[in-house]
This record gives sequence, structure tokens and C-alpha cells, in this order.
Amino acid sequence: MFGRDKIEYKTTEQVRLMRRAGLVVADALAAVRAQVRAGMTTGDLDAIAADVIREGGAKPSFLGYYGYPATLCVSVNDEIVHGIPGSRVLAPGDLVSVDCGAIIEGWHGDSAMSLVIPDADSLDVELVDATETAMWAGIAALATSDRLSGVGDAVEDSVDATQVAGANGAVRYGLIQEYVGHGIGSEMHQAPDVLNYRTRDRGPKLRPGMCLAVEPMLVRGARATQVLEDDWTVVTGDGSRAAHWEHSVALLEGGIWVLTAADGGAERLAALGIKVAPLAD
Ligand code: MF3
Ligand code: CO
Repeated sequence: MFGRDKIEYKTTEQVRLMRRAGLVVADALAAVRAQVRAGMTTGDLDAIAADVIREGGAKPSFLGYYGYPATLCVSVNDEIVHGIPGSRVLAPGDLVSVDCGAIIEGWHGDSAMSLVIPDADSLDVELVDATETAMWAGIAALATSDRLSGVGDAVEDSVDATQVAGANGAVRYGLIQEYVGHGIGSEMHQAPDVLNYRTRDRGPKLRPGMCLAVEPMLVRGARATQVLEDDWTVVTGDGSRAAHWEHSVALLEGGIWVLTAADGGAERLAALGIKVAPLAD
């Protein structure tokens, strides 16, 4: 779907610009999280993010990307990714995944979060939390692995470790394979692909200057996907609900830095025994 070529290794100055873009994305998602309510439309969420991006001196990166018509992707319930915001009215209990990208001086940030609108079904909240946990496990692997395949191993291990109650005993979440993370920098999607599952291919060596978007998608049912008539919206084949989390991460000489997290990933990674290594201001 997306053009990919050689790995682009960033200078520290380029990473600083990506941090600025990342913080605008973080602000946009925080604004959406603070304001989202049942009764709003998915288009209302798009407008909230568009305002924050403009006020932050950035440009939305999704708008116009291969003809994509909005600032956000907003994917509701059985929609996994690439849902187009519009007139859909959000209802209590909806599981909403919000994906946002912004550009500053040509450098990109890309991040996604999922949430459930009150009153939430606890099984949906567990799915959202398991997906976020799997993302942080994948991000942590960028600090502890020497090869990119460590991310997929860590995400899959995290999903394996989270057994959920099913009708016939414990089941595992479905882990989407058709959509993957990616390098990010002077374009939103770059080499290398960042898989969320285990493979034999160990992938490229992890080196300082790489910037990678880690973005697992989990579903409460089977991992089969389908694309709707709009040619964008990806839904589960079985109607089960889906969650999606994403952060853009820089690999630096001293360690990793989560560019799209306000705290650089410090809190979540400390819990995994990893100290983040932000560039000094
Ligand atoms: N941001 C998505 C990703 O995480 C891609 C969005 S596709 C677009 O890679 F067309 F909406 F831009
Ligand atoms: Co992405």
C-alpha cells in the first residue's frame, strides 16, 4: 500500500523536529481524549485535532495522503484502522480508535490511541489496555533488542501472556498481521516495516538514528480483516471489536525516546526497567 525504500538515519537536529511534530500529535490526541463524548460525531473529533495541529504550527499528514480526506483516522467498534471521520454519531459504550499524524518543517509524528466511551463494557476496556500494553512491550524491545524482530517477538509475547475469558474458556486476542508499523521521518511511511508478530527474519539491526512507529492492533475475535467500500476503512471479518495504539520512537546513542508521548515514554518504560534518553533542549 505504501512506498518504502532505504532506512533513513536521522541527525539529532532532525529528531528534534520530529519531537516537535510528535508533541503536536500528543496534544491533538489529548484534546480529543478530553473532549470526546457520546453524541459527538467522529467529524467533531477531526475538527478538534485539526485546530490543535494548526495552532501548534504543524500540518496534518493524513489529509491528502493517497487522497485520504481527513486529519484523523477514527475507527469505531469493529473498525480496526483507517476509519474516515464524518457524520457518524458516537454512542455510549463505543470503542473508538483515533490515529493522528502531523508535520513540522517536513518531519513527521504519528500516534494512535483507543478509548471506550462510558458506559464501557469491561471486556472492551481490557482489550484497549492489552493493546496499549503490547505496544509498550514492543517499544521496550527497541531498547533491549539488537534486531528489529525483537519488536514483533515482544508484542506477540505480550498478547500470549494476556488470556481473556471466552465462552469456551480462555482465549487469546487476535493479533492483526496485514497492517504493520513503519519507519517514519521525512515521510510518514518509510522502511523498515515493523511487524507485530514473530517471524524467522530477524530484520535490520537497530541503530541510532532510526525512527520507528510501533502500532499493534488487537481484536476480540479472529485476525481476518476486510476493507469497506470506501477503500479505506478496515474492519474485522467477524464483527469483533478492535483496538489500536501507536507511538513514534527515536533510537539515539543513549537510548530510546518516545517522540509522541508527552513524557517521552518515561513512566511506562520505567515500569519495564527502561530509562528513556531524551535529547537535551
Ligand atoms: N497513521 C496511519 C499509520 O499509523 C496511517 C494513516 S493512513 C492515512 O500508519 F491515509 F490516513 F493517512
Ligand atoms: Co503509523
